[in-house]
This record gives sequence, structure tokens and C-alpha cells, in this order.
Amino acid sequence: MVEKVNIPEISQKHLHGIKDLTIEDINKILDLSSFFKLSNKEKDKNHPILKGRTIINLFFEPSTRTLISFEIAAKRLGADVINMNIEGSSLRKGESLHDTAQTLGAMNPDLVVIRHGVDDASKKIAEIVNCPVINAGEGINEHPTQALLDAYTIIDNKRSLENITVSICGDLEHSRVARSNYYLLKKMKSNVRFVYPEFFKPKDLDKYEVETFTSLEEGIADADIVMMLRIQNERISDMKLPSKELYFEQFGLTYEKLKLAKPEALVLHPGPINRNVEIEDRLADDIDKSVINEQVENGVAVRMACLSMMVK
Ligand code: CP
Repeated sequence: MVEKVNIPEISQKHLHGIKDLTIEDINKILDLSSFFKLSNKEKDKNHPILKGRTIINLFFEPSTRTLISFEIAAKRLGADVINMNIEGSSLRKGESLHDTAQTLGAMNPDLVVIRHGVDDASKKIAEIVNCPVINAGEGINEHPTQALLDAYTIIDNKRSLENITVSICGDLEHSRVARSNYYLLKKMKSNVRFVYPEFFKPKDLDKYEVETFTSLEEGIADADIVMMLRIQNERISDMKLPSKELYFEQFGLTYEKLKLAKPEALVLHPGPINRNVEIEDRLADDIDKSVINEQVENGVAVRMACLSMMVK
């Protein structure tokens, strides 16, 4: 028997970034995610509250976790989902993003999910289509649903975000995951540290009120959460990186280095992982230390919560 669920309102029509959300919005999304996480363990995972609604997933950059979990989330809510095939679309005949959005908007979708390489792509699309838009990761700006699922995962394990120390480590310069997590964790009163090798120092560092470290060992000392980031090779053209072996030696997370964090510290990574570059292979799979698979599982529940709250 499918349990009836109350869907709360949030303050925003679109989900462009965590920056726009209130603490109340975040708590409502996380509370509703708890409901969907439980229901996702049932045989019947469906809550057809979006029956008859149409959702378009418009992914201009590769994705496994975000795209598939948005699709699963929409289907479990009963929506009709279209994953637009960018390679087979008229974009490849030179149609602009503006005209693509206008064309899709004319088909009356109820929500558009967009991933794009440009920092304000979700806002540009929202100005054209007549429905809510969710940013599924854009440029180096934000990846709000990733931060929400990370927050959910931390709370699930640590009970609260308040007063915990979260060290966000690695390619801070190119990471939209780091930026969304920063905004969320600061709103929820966590202590946030940015830990990066000098060549990944964020150019916009003066925007963030964080402790900064250029040594991984110092940056994760006594941390509750060690959040490792993927090296965003696709956004790096103007710098020479050290070899993978040297990066791992200096900035990869190992069992040995993790001993410097709190004994019960947890390891997060948004994925996909560069194994034995950002994180020791065995550590990534060690379910006593790593919650990477929980992050993926929670992504479905969080995206069900976001879709059900935003489709009107
Ligand atoms: N974390 C994340 O955005 O992964 P994908 O690129 O696989 O969606």
C-alpha cells in the first residue's frame, strides 16, 4: 500500500543554486528525502504524484549518477521523462541554446533539468521555458542537488551538520560540488575547510569564509568529514598538473593520512572517482570509512524530493 505524502512548498520556483535556498527550504527537502529514502527500500517504490507530468533531462556534459538518478526519481514519481540526446539533436546542426530552449518550451514540459558547462546556463534556460528548471551541475558555479545529497548523507550518519568540521579537499578551483557544499554547510553552521594544492587554489577564494590549507595532512586533522573532489580534467587547459603518482603521493587520501582525522571520520566523494589518484582504491570501497555508495543511493531520494516540490 503506497503511503500518502505531504509535499511542502519551497521559496524558489527554480533550483539554480544552494545560495538561493533558505535554511527552511533545505530542511524541508532533507525531511522529504527521508520519506523517499524509506520508500525506495520497498518493493513498490512508486509514488505517482507527478502522473501526467513531463520532465526533460537536458545534459550537455557526461553524467552517470545525476542523469540516471533524476530519471529514476521522475519515473518513481510517475512522470514521463525525456532524456534529450544532445548528439542526435539539432544542436549538432548549429541550433543555439536559446532556440533549443524555446523549442523545448513550446512542448510544454513541467520541469527541465539541465547540466551544462556554462556557469549561468540554468538561469538562461529558465528565462525561456515556462516551467521550473533544476541545475544538475553547471560550469564551476553550483551543483545543488549534489550538495543536498551530501548533506543528507552526513546527517544520516552524524545526526546534524551543526558544529561538525568538513574538509573539502582537492580541485577546489574547478569544483561546482565544492561551491554548493560551501553554501549549504555554512548555512547549516558547519565548520568548512578548503584544502587544496597551490595549483588548485580557487581564483574566487576571497568570496568564501573558510579556513584554508595547502597540506592534506593539516587540512584533515581532526575533521569529522573528509570530502575528496574529482580532478576536473575537462575544465583544465591552462595548467600543467603533476603526474598521477605524484598527485596521489602529495594529495591523495590514504588509510594512513585518514588516521589524522577524527577516528570516526567519514569519507565522501561525489564521483566518478579517479582511484589511486584522489583516493586509495581500497579506502573508497571500505564501507566502515567511505559513504560513497550511500551518497549515490541518497541521490535518488533527494531528487525525488526536489522534483515533487518543484513541479507545480
Ligand atoms: N557527482 C556527479 O555529478 O556525478 P555524475 O557526473 O556521474 O553525474
